[in-house]
Amino acid sequence: MEVIIRPDSDAAASLLVALIEQVVRQKPNATLGFATGHTMEMVYSKLAAKHANEGLDFSGCSTFNLDEYIGMSGKDPSSYRHYMNERLFSKIEIDLANTFLPNGVAEDIDAECERYERLIEERGGIDLQLLGIGSTGHIGFNEPLSALRSRTRAKALAPETREQNASMFGNDVDRVPKRAITMGVGTILDSRRCILLATGAAKAEIIASAVEGPVTSMISASALQLHTRCTVIVDEEAASALQNQDYYRWIFENEPEWQEFQ
Ligand code: F6R
Repeated sequence: MEVIIRPDSDAAASLLVALIEQVVRQKPNATLGFATGHTMEMVYSKLAAKHANEGLDFSGCSTFNLDEYIGMSGKDPSSYRHYMNERLFSKIEIDLANTFLPNGVAEDIDAECERYERLIEERGGIDLQLLGIGSTGHIGFNEPLSALRSRTRAKALAPETREQNASMFGNDVDRVPKRAITMGVGTILDSRRCILLATGAAKAEIIASAVEGPVTSMISASALQLHTRCTVIVDEEAASALQNQDYYRWIFENEPEWQEFQ
């Protein structure tokens, strides 16, 4: 795992966008794993700008999102399908047939989860998986005690997560669905590269636990310590509870891979 500390959320999002650009330019048919949530909003607006102003071409890419609410069709403005279509897909000229999210209104949810796993496999696996982190330490919707080897499945949302996400439901926590389909922790760990982005002071404690604490199913993001190629990008605020900030900064300044991003 590597930790990169950027001065603010804009610089953190810009670095993530630069990494995505590098992957897409090197492999125009890359399979990208996407996350939703507030943290990613800036990333998607910057990616849309890269497409519009610099011609970054996503037409050969396939995409898989981490999760979708159960009971919510893609037409619902609070669905993650809607979020992705509005914020990114409609702006980057990608064929929607190559963009995948779990179907939250599938008749047979278990079969849908298996289908999703198969689809990821058929597209050759995920080259780059974007991740946010929830206040419970979840990645995707892998709430505390999610098995570290779990696969795509239905999962009940923790009460804290429903509160965290109420802002996307007119601040009415009762409107936040109680369950979602999510890629499992094991599914996420199968991605060839993972990048977790966290910004803002509210994420400081959970980032410190996930990065510097023990690997535990109580904090799904801590499982990323097991990944052979995982980068955590944080702004100063989200980094503020990390014990070893000087070490992370030293690595960033001295690893050749990061020279072009300084
Ligand atoms: C969303 C997802 C979640 C979010 C996390 C952070 O698809 O999988 O894990 O990334 O809840 O959300 P924000 O960015 O809203 O704090």
